[in-house]
Amino acid sequence: MTYDDDHIEQLKKAYSENKVSDSYIEDRFSSAIGRILHEAQVSFVVEAITKHRITSVLEVAPGPARLTVDIGASCRQTHGTIMDFNVNMLEQAQKRLSASGLAENWKSVAGDAFDMPFKDIFQLAYSFRFIRHFHKEDRNRIYNQIHQHLEPNGFLIFDAINRQVSEPLRANATVDEYPIYDELYDFQQLEQELKQNQFRIVEYIAVQRCYSLLSKIQILIGPRSEKLAYRLMKLVEAAKIGQPLEWIVLCQKI
Ligand SMILES: C[S@@+](CC[C@H](N)C(=O)[O-])C[C@H]1O[C@@H](n2cnc3c(N)ncnc32)[C@H](O)[C@@H]1O
Repeated sequence: MTYDDDHIEQLKKAYSENKVSDSYIEDRFSSAIGRILHEAQVSFVVEAITKHRITSVLEVAPGPARLTVDIGASCRQTHGTIMDFNVNMLEQAQKRLSASGLAENWKSVAGDAFDMPFKDIFQLAYSFRFIRHFHKEDRNRIYNQIHQHLEPNGFLIFDAINRQVSEPLRANATVDEYPIYDELYDFQQLEQELKQNQFRIVEYIAVQRCYSLLSKIQILIGPRSEKLAYRLMKLVEAAKIGQPLEWIVLCQKI
């Protein structure tokens, strides 16, 4: 089995500069299109926590805790650990959690997802915009680490990109639009990959349907009114038509 150590190091480096951690949320999630994705991710995790009465959570590679600040605010009984390799990101995360009155509930740990530096067991782990950046053998190593840190029947939530929608977009994009590797999936392939790693999908949602339309709204209307762009995108989302750009999956340990 060969692991892609160069690729793993590249990903750590890509997020290690202060300027990346300082502006990460502003750069990627302040637009209407980014906000809608963020809200869908938060509400999916909050619903899972509520439905399955989850109190102990691990977030792998949280960056500046974009998600946990909002998830924690909706689930004040939940406590957990956020673990990221990058200390600048963790500093931002701690500041943001403190500002939201959540510092008591969430422990920040500097660590590597390929070799987690604790033995704690959680009911739920979540990780967004992370697992997909690795090649198969390395994704398997991450699933394995997460599996070891979940209680029996514990849950994992993460995001996966739909090949059918993303591949044509990437074929027409410039090189700098997708600087970091992403695995693209057919849904069956995703189910298969999880099964091979002792997880089964119990629930999922489709997000960013009609992506070409969403991005047109963002480009044409966003600069004039993010509020209007947001409202139009919510209408597109509510129509539930078209293939999604991504899925968010809730899986259970088997
Ligand atoms: C694209 S950001 C995602 C942040 C957050 N999950 C989100 O969705 O906003 C990727 C994060 O992975 C972290 N990272 C990269 N390699 C890592 C590793 N081997 N172990 C833990 N964290 C890692 C980076 O420091 C960065 O914070």
